[in-house]
Amino acid sequence: MHDRNIDKPLAIVIFGASGDLTKRKLMPALYSLFREKRLPGTFSVLGIGRTKYTDEDYRPYILSELKEFVKPEEINDKEINNFISHLHYLSMDPSVVNDYPLLSAKLAELTSKDIEGNILYYLATPPSLYGVIPQHLKANNLNGSNTRIIVEKPFGYDLKSAHELNAIYRSVFTENQIFRIDHFFGKETVQNILAFRFANGIFEPLWNRNYIDHIEITAVENMGIEQRGGYYNSSGALRDMVQNHLVQLLSLIAMEPPVAFNPNDFRNEILKVYESLAPLSKDDLQHNVIRGQYIASADRKGYREEKNIPDDSRTETYIAMKLNINNWRWSGVPFYIRTGKQMPTKVTEIVVHFRKAPHQMFKTDLDNHNMLIIRIQPNEGILLKVGMKVPGSGFEIREASLELMYDKLDGLPVGDAYARLIEDCILGDPTLFTRGDAVEASWYFFDAILKSWQSNTAPPLYGYPAGTWGPKESDTLMNTYNTKWTNPCKNLTNSDQYCEL
Ligand code: BG6
Repeated sequence: MHDRNIDKPLAIVIFGASGDLTKRKLMPALYSLFREKRLPGTFSVLGIGRTKYTDEDYRPYILSELKEFVKPEEINDKEINNFISHLHYLSMDPSVVNDYPLLSAKLAELTSKDIEGNILYYLATPPSLYGVIPQHLKANNLNGSNTRIIVEKPFGYDLKSAHELNAIYRSVFTENQIFRIDHFFGKETVQNILAFRFANGIFEPLWNRNYIDHIEITAVENMGIEQRGGYYNSSGALRDMVQNHLVQLLSLIAMEPPVAFNPNDFRNEILKVYESLAPLSKDDLQHNVIRGQYIASADRKGYREEKNIPDDSRTETYIAMKLNINNWRWSGVPFYIRTGKQMPTKVTEIVVHFRKAPHQMFKTDLDNHNMLIIRIQPNEGILLKVGMKVPGSGFEIREASLELMYDKLDGLPVGDAYARLIEDCILGDPTLFTRGDAVEASWYFFDAILKSWQSNTAPPLYGYPAGTWGPKESDTLMNTYNTKWTNPCKNLTNSDQYCEL
């Protein structure tokens, strides 16, 4: 399968080593790869940041964070101390080119000759450094042919900046060395969409406009922006979630079967989905894209009260929109997608609504059957909702589910997304990473929304009380098309309090 890059000694360099992503996701992922012997026998992890740590300060700091973010049953004192002994820290400013000789010297000190430049750079920094770091690596000859770079999303701020960023990356690395990460593709349940569709013959014949009425994609969270105000306020839900995570989910649901499961064939099909997104008309931009921002509710603070958020911020924390795909399979099938912070619950799921039976001979007012729910998280699994006869006299129909829940499937644990993707990068397998052309194709579509929000005919930004299902206008959007959102918990709405900001 893979060329066993895993056996080659490796240095992993993390820019942004004292940040949130490193402690919450990257170190736990590396530790789990280490525990499962999925890292090379010889490796070191070099954290880089402006905070003035030494190795002696950095190790206990990461150790205490690991104890917080790794499941208790996975903590083994001997293993964790062994892992920690591979960690090093270099205090430098990644935005200053003259600091990079320090990095060269540190890498030389940490690695023996047999490493052959096998270095993985991870950019866990604010997006403003994504363009600078590769250029400084190149200026210091740190971009040899065995190096790889993982860069977090959002890749670019809009189409123009994504294009410029791609140009920078391509001038420093080859496309095969660039790993634009979107951690949703590392999720087992997301990858399983491919297996579900293409390893089985059951659903594929139904997977088109003749049998599917519409599709919903929801990724909502019940928390706010936590300590990420600085980043989030210049990003917003569209850049943070929609342009990447949500369209990635859409691409797996909508794509044609790739010729083979290899990086090029697979990613060609993703690109085609993005290129087939129907451009949004002026009317769509006004009425079919709803943006909102959470406001204070009885027990939760509003977005503008969060740390580092200006009182007059117009950054969206919620988006709901209707999309169409212009191709033979999906013509006329609406895709409704939404994401939001401070919602009633955290759930990511895809709901495929099949067309109703052409003639209903049973009396039923059910509207929650005839659908397939692909639940990405939590309660990971797949549910097929069907109408069943209620036993006894008459022909009353009620809803029932055929359920495939991961926690009931023996030997199918839900693995960690970051661990999977970091391992793929070590192995040199870019399949689950976003290719440069796809990033730009996605931005090409979403740029129209960003431009409409900056224009003087910008659609309103609606306030929604924290802890509710978003602006009532997103319900109106669905009503216009004779449907409604499938909300995992239904008893929580507070529509009276909505307002326009
Ligand atoms: C990140 C976003 O990419 O994804 C966050 O920056 C968001 O704002 C997170 O909370 C959601 O990821 P997950 O895996 O928890 O659904």
